[in-house]
Amino acid sequence: QSPEEFASIVLDWFDRHGRHDLPWQHDPTPYRVWVSEIMLQQTQVSVVIPYFERFMASFPTLADLAAAELDAVLAHWSGLGYYARGRNLHRAAVLIRERHGGVFPEDFAAVESLPGIGRSTAGAILSLACGQRHPILDGNVKRVLARVFGVDGWPGQSAVLAELWRLAERCTPRVRAGAYNQGMMDLGATLCTRARPDCARCPLAGRCVAQLQGRQRELPAPRPR
Ligand code: ADE
Repeated sequence: QSPEEFASIVLDWFDRHGRHDLPWQHDPTPYRVWVSEIMLQQTQVSVVIPYFERFMASFPTLADLAAAELDAVLAHWSGLGYYARGRNLHRAAVLIRERHGGVFPEDFAAVESLPGIGRSTAGAILSLACGQRHPILDGNVKRVLARVFGVDGWPGQSAVLAELWRLAERCTPRVRAGAYNQGMMDLGATLCTRARPDCARCPLAGRCVAQLQGRQRELPAPRPR
């Protein structure tokens, strides 16, 4: 199937059924999107929202975060868990002040080099906040792609991961990459769930290898043991 067609189906679904009211979507600056993506790395949206609001009230700008004491930043993390995320956020804010004059960088390599930011998070920030065309590949997107394209094997295996990145790259549209990425995350979070995929409502069902072969439960494959 053509990547253009795939992307346009996802975009159309996102416009009609995706999430458009998340706090970081109003005024999606690189700083706000970055903080939201770090919080969302291991925590679900409904839990993150009040933490995000409190964090932004205390540290409204990148300069405020860089100037803050680490303990003040970590105090905002109690309840979220994975404190390394909060430490990395503060370290990165200081590095952005030192390396980039306090302005969040818009160069992919510069963003990816910051602590706590990998390829997918860098792609999310630059697509959602800056309109750049970069693929993302978080857990939700891996599941959607593995099912639609029938990618066998455990995504923790490097060859499987490479195939998923290749598909993610190929499907990401030149225009509206941010909306497409948000749509893929929303599809994975709301319809294409791990245990109970709602294929009846999915715009991709007619072209989904897993749905056509009744293999939704088997894809993506779990860690072999
Ligand atoms: N999980 C990670 N990033 C997300 C986002 N931008 N929206 C919803 N869930 C997410």
